[in-house]
Amino acid sequence: MGTMMETDMRSDLFAHLETLSYSYFSETKVGQIMSRITSDLFDITEFAHHCPEEIIITGLKIIIAFIYLMTIDIPLTLILFAILPIMLFASLSFRKKMRDSFKDRRTQTGELNAQVEDSLLGIRVVKSFANEELEKEKFNRGNKIFFKVKKISYHYMAGFQATTKFFEGVMYISVIIAGSIFLKIGRIGVDDFAAYILYIATLTTSIRTILNFTEQFQNGITGLERFIEIMDTKPDITDRNDAVELKNVKGEILFKNVSFKYPGTEQDVLSKINLHISPGESVALVGASGTGKTTICNLIPRFYDVDQGSIYIDGTDIRKFKLHSLRRNIGMVQQDVYMFSGTVRENIEYGRPGADFSDIEAAAKRAGAHDFITALPNGYDTYIGERGVKLSGGQKQRLSIARVFLKDPPILILDEATSSLDNESEKLIQKSLEELSKGRTVLTIAHRLTTIKNADKILVITENGIEEEGSHSQLIEKHGIYYQLYTI
Ligand SMILES: Nc1ncnc2c1ncn2[C@@H]1O[C@H](COP(=O)(O)OP(=O)(O)O)[C@@H](O)[C@H]1O
Ligand SMILES: [Mg+2]
Repeated sequence: MGTMMETDMRSDLFAHLETLSYSYFSETKVGQIMSRITSDLFDITEFAHHCPEEIIITGLKIIIAFIYLMTIDIPLTLILFAILPIMLFASLSFRKKMRDSFKDRRTQTGELNAQVEDSLLGIRVVKSFANEELEKEKFNRGNKIFFKVKKISYHYMAGFQATTKFFEGVMYISVIIAGSIFLKIGRIGVDDFAAYILYIATLTTSIRTILNFTEQFQNGITGLERFIEIMDTKPDITDRNDAVELKNVKGEILFKNVSFKYPGTEQDVLSKINLHISPGESVALVGASGTGKTTICNLIPRFYDVDQGSIYIDGTDIRKFKLHSLRRNIGMVQQDVYMFSGTVRENIEYGRPGADFSDIEAAAKRAGAHDFITALPNGYDTYIGERGVKLSGGQKQRLSIARVFLKDPPILILDEATSSLDNESEKLIQKSLEELSKGRTVLTIAHRLTTIKNADKILVITENGIEEEGSHSQLIEKHGIYYQLYTI
């Protein structure tokens, strides 16, 4: 039963994590989530399957012992059981402290996980700066905090154990003293006295089991609390009840007085932006870094919702569409491509899960990736390593373009898709991208201005919003910011 619960809770937790928005993952460390999804849940089920069993068995033992001892001698039994509430009170006073320290322990385990993850994912940077010692120090610092936190939790556990043992002793001694007196005055016989001494052992072990169980209980409860914390986090961005499917997209995009700031920040990144892109038009955004170009792109698929104003696709506010259908109609190629650990084929197929191999191949050909893929040791079935480490930057970028070809969305967002590449790869990819852009509404961000010269419309973004707007030749004639950028 415990394992079944654990499995169910784990898949609920994972399913819920998948629904959470960008902003949640900006604030939360993956290592923390990992420890919640693995060790926390394990403790919950340990608790869940031991709880019914132990409570019933030891509960029965205590009740039966009580009844049996009462039939022998009532006052002696009452003396014995009078100590029980005091013992429970004293032991359970450790409960809150134990719970808090267990919680700290978990948080710190998650912290350690996060640190290991960060350091190992960045191992190439670590090595290139020869900063292994620094990483070790960082890790040891976290590890030391873990030690402290764990020590505190053992401290409370020790206090708890000592208290229970102490009261066990008190019980024993009380019964021996009272029993001997009762024996002496002839209230009870030697056989009854012997029975008492034997039953005390049963009783104290049962009580100890229950009290020890509180430890496991606390562990389970803190695990449960952390589980509920995530399950209670509501995704910021969800479908409305009356949301409709986005279908047969023509590709008109309209920004009307859009203002936006990132959650938890004060300053607007975008304020009162107005922007119109006709179906099939290609629009380029240029401007200094940090002016909000990527932010504009993130608003269209609703990775974040606007604070004021609205964004429309084909005349309908995007908040009225089902998220799923909205995002299925938008393809993004970004500067940082993410490859999943797996084969080339699996990574392209990600654009349209379940696609035929012939479609995957066609997409790779159009993205200019087919030739290098066939040259790999196992062709399309080559394992590309975690995050695609076995491929070059240009190769990864071409796979990510093939992915979007396969997805075949009517709206395309290219966010510095070629910025991190060398000239030759850039030229190759530029061709793939032009191929990809045909017949779609395209929003391109590029800082190499030669790549966007042919765009239908170019928008120059500064801190003040959209400063200039027009075609390449118009903007050059204008001798404004674009002209300056271009001549530089
Ligand atoms: N997740 C985030 N949380 C808070 N601020 C952010 C976040 N992402 C970007 N910013 C800030 O928003 C501004 C615009 O960023 P961005 O749109 O990425 O610029 P760029 O024009 O270079 O693409 C920057 O000042 C950046 O610091
Ligand atoms: Mg950017």
